[in-house]
Amino acid sequence: MKGVAIVGTKGGVGKTSIAHLLALGAAWKNTPAYLMHTDARPPIVVNGRPYMYYDARKPETLSTLISAAINNDGLCVVDSGGNRPEFDKWIAESVDLVLMPVIPDPEGVEMAIEHMKRLEDYGARNVRFIMNMVSSNQNEHLRDFREYFSKLPEEKIIGKIKKVSAVKRLRESDIELFKTPPSNVNNLSRSLYFIVKDALDDIEEGVEQKEVA
Ligand SMILES: Nc1ncnc2c1ncn2[C@@H]1O[C@H](COP(=O)(O)OP(=O)(O)O)[C@@H](O)[C@H]1O
Ligand SMILES: [Mg+2]
Repeated sequence: MKGVAIVGTKGGVGKTSIAHLLALGAAWKNTPAYLMHTDARPPIVVNGRPYMYYDARKPETLSTLISAAINNDGLCVVDSGGNRPEFDKWIAESVDLVLMPVIPDPEGVEMAIEHMKRLEDYGARNVRFIMNMVSSNQNEHLRDFREYFSKLPEEKIIGKIKKVSAVKRLRESDIELFKTPPSNVNNLSRSLYFIVKDALDDIEEGVEQKEVA
């Protein structure tokens, strides 16, 4: 079992959406996916989705769920919810990869860099940024990159997610809405899963190389 936490002190950057996209993408590749909801807000209803969704708002529940799942195959995705610095230490010590969504916004970029440093101080070795809400318009994308995304350390950016309005369905409880996710959502979820899987494979190889040397 691999663990990925989606974190960010800023609200509205896409943590919850990305957590659902990633779990969906894993499920598409027949990888069992477990999504841990740790947001203070109540979890949504996700009947009929191809991944497991747990209410892990209590830290002890989260630890219990993860210890129980650790020997399973698959991917555990932790939606880290809002600004909870006390949770950072647990994340730094417990997951294989920390994903930090960043949207084109000056405050978001600064907060993300600070948060990355804090997590690294706690011992997190694999913090990566993912650019979210990237415009499909070439000029807008270039402007966002120049003004915002270029401030991020390049080697820590693992990919980008386009602005796709149907993504919001993933955060909604309505079962009917989700029965057949639109193809752009399915495609996003698959490409996100591939990006994350590659990053996890690289991390594992890095560790092995170190052990051999
Ligand atoms: N790639 C995207 N394209 C379009 N809308 C998005 C995207 N990612 C997030 N959103 C929208 O942004 C808002 C905040 O997303 P959410 O996942 O709830 O963020 P967080 O969990 O960080 O607060 C939601 O309305 C969501 O639908
Ligand atoms: Mg959220």
